[in-house]
Amino acid sequence: MASLATWVGSLALGVSLLSGTASAADLAIALGSIGRDVDEMRGQLDAFQKATGHTVRIVTMPASTTDQFGQYRLWLSAGNKDVDVYRTDVIWAPQLAANLVDLTDAMKDVVGQHLPAVIQSQTVDGKLVAMPLFGDAPALYYRKDLLEKYGREIPETWKELTETAKLIQDGERQAGNAQLNGFVFQGAAYEGLTCDALEWVASNGGGQIVSPEGEITINNPKAAEALDLAKSWVGTIAPQGVLGYMEEESRGVWQTGNAVFMRNWPYAYPLSQSDDSPVKGKFDAVPLPAGDSGKSAACLGGWNLAISQFSENKDAAIELVKFLTSAESQKSRALGTARLPTIPALYDDPEIKEKQPLVAKWKEVFENATPRPSAPTKAKYNEVSQQFWTAANKTLAGQGTAAANLEDLERQLRRLKRNAW
Ligand code: GLC
Repeated sequence: MASLATWVGSLALGVSLLSGTASAADLAIALGSIGRDVDEMRGQLDAFQKATGHTVRIVTMPASTTDQFGQYRLWLSAGNKDVDVYRTDVIWAPQLAANLVDLTDAMKDVVGQHLPAVIQSQTVDGKLVAMPLFGDAPALYYRKDLLEKYGREIPETWKELTETAKLIQDGERQAGNAQLNGFVFQGAAYEGLTCDALEWVASNGGGQIVSPEGEITINNPKAAEALDLAKSWVGTIAPQGVLGYMEEESRGVWQTGNAVFMRNWPYAYPLSQSDDSPVKGKFDAVPLPAGDSGKSAACLGGWNLAISQFSENKDAAIELVKFLTSAESQKSRALGTARLPTIPALYDDPEIKEKQPLVAKWKEVFENATPRPSAPTKAKYNEVSQQFWTAANKTLAGQGTAAANLEDLERQLRRLKRNAW
């Protein structure tokens, strides 16, 4: 029975019968829980189990990428054998590389299908440490009905967003809609705020915190101006609570109909369009606004699959990673959850175009997204990001001006860098 299942699975996966996947393995995959990701993964794992005879258990992690990273780093440095496959954030490759399996050989027939830049981002010193599961690049979600009611255009700059959000929030509150907020985003002190704040700064011409060449650039007037504007939102167009919001808290406010605008990733689109969603049919999504002295910048996100060097089932884990990152799986993931394919050909798929309009129009935004400085700062990225999100969160909370906090941040980053990253 097991060998028949293995045979069927090998055919389904295009894996050679000679590849030596003789006996069924019990695998475990660790992944964070945002939106429908865990459900969607379970569905794909069931198909994999059926095709191969391997069983796969999900180790569900907290929603925050920062919390996941801390746990994975501990497990990997302790040689944990209980997790075979990790779902890894696009920024982690250089920091976890030492404990991950080199997939270069195993994936040589399939890497060519994916966007070269994504494969590049998961390659550390010539070693491919993770395969792309999906890409990510955020959108500005807006309420079509409210913009129409107040005769406002979709904002193209953050200042326009500020004005429109205020106008509609004031109007609606006066009309008795006390819960309505102008804008929700991710303001909690974690990696998500690094993404949001990088977008404010980069879209205002304030750079990428650390340049691709490794130079610390964050302490500049355009960056300060962008953070000051964001600070002005807290307690006016954004609730005070935004200082503790991650993705799902923002979506909670938005999806119950209590926000005019939301910054979030594409996964929120089909959820907001679901039958029981109060905002169904009332919204759309466009690229994020630009600063006054820059152009729209979307933080490059995305998730990958990596195999632990401590896994005792590496062959089966490789089969699993191939299966989950294949064109078929990426298509089904895009259709089910609007997670962006990293295989460019899928953006022309008629079914995706019809059923997930945001995915179909997001190829360019994704391909032009602004990376966080994880490549230049290498193993120190997490600390760099932590210093940045702390400075941003303090500024939003009114603890020090943007200029003073950025000056302090520059000092911290110089200390971290010393002579080289
Ligand atoms: C999304 C992105 C990821 C990013 C995270 C921040 O999940 O895909 O790259 O780090 O948001 O919260």
